Amino acid sequence: DKDIYILGIETSCDETAASVIKNGHEIISNVVASQIQSQQRFGGVVPEIASRHHVEQITLVIEEALAAAKLEPEDLDAVAVTEGPGLVGALLIGINAAKAFAFANGLPIIGVHHIAGHIYANQLMQPMEFPLLALIVSGGHTELVMMEKHGSFKLIGETRDDAAGEAYDKVARVLGLPYPGGPAIDKLALESDEAIEFPRAWLEADSYDFSFSGLKSAVINYKHNLEQKDGSIVPAHVAAGFQQSVIEVLTAKTLRAAKEFNVKQVIAAGGVAANKGLRASLDVVFEKEGIPFYVPPISLCTDNAAMIGAAGTAMFIDGKRGNMEMNGRPGMQL
Ligand code: KG4
Ligand code: ZN
Repeated sequence: DKDIYILGIETSCDETAASVIKNGHEIISNVVASQIQSQQRFGGVVPEIASRHHVEQITLVIEEALAAAKLEPEDLDAVAVTEGPGLVGALLIGINAAKAFAFANGLPIIGVHHIAGHIYANQLMQPMEFPLLALIVSGGHTELVMMEKHGSFKLIGETRDDAAGEAYDKVARVLGLPYPGGPAIDKLALESDEAIEFPRAWLEADSYDFSFSGLKSAVINYKHNLEQKDGSIVPAHVAAGFQQSVIEVLTAKTLRAAKEFNVKQVIAAGGVAANKGLRASLDVVFEKEGIPFYVPPISLCTDNAAMIGAAGTAMFIDGKRGNMEMNGRPGMQL
């Protein structure tokens, strides 16, 4: 059979990324231009500024991905691009670049769901086995998704308020840590030998949903109360307590779902899956349970285009094609 080469493009949030993927699992090139310095100046992602960065970077990033792959456009089989969800202005930059590239080179275009991309990052490491349970934890998402086969996604739980990464970023701000908050809290928590006790939001006994806004408020209240008494917090202890609360709930619900649905494989994905504490906790429980658990290396957990190329290839093989009417879909459903 002929090899399949797909160009992946991702611009849904704050990374401008392009990648060439061979046969859905082999990374030929993977280029990510981050906007982290500009976000640190503003304390987060400013949509208008993110779009402007994408406009400046997108052509360069695509050219670099092709050059690094030592491929010409005619060697490609299709262009896969993140169609949603995400910031609409940011999505449109990637989609328009993909359309122009596809049109100029006579290639089909495929619209990929960003979360499908995060899940398929795992396909770049080892083949998926079904039924599969995916825990997606990022700045915009906290979801448990069941897959019976390629391209089939069933949402079994999601956050009712803040995403896990959003909680990390907000609590980091309360602790005076830089953006993005996840890595900073992760590091600080490791330095602590004492964890402040914060609540865990289990919700209804049978629910796979999550809630993190109460935890965020608990941290704010804890700091406020101490300051009222002229005390001050020990940031490392707060970071450790917050992180423990997040990890305990994520781990317990993922484990319960894996057992209920009798899955063959559990995977984690998204920026928060880069968290050392979370990875260790999931490793331990699934090792004990005898269920294979995988999480991609950190560079494939945070936003990238290799994952979009991987998910796009699965769709390409399945015969799915987009067209020139494609538009950014900020609220796209999986
Ligand atoms: O997947 P991602 O790069 O972008 C979205 O699609 O949202 O995820 C970014 C999120 C941010 O909230 C960041 O604070 C969090 O992932 N994050 C972490 C870690 N590294 C990144 N959260 C916890 N621990 C980490 N080590
Ligand atoms: Zn993401």
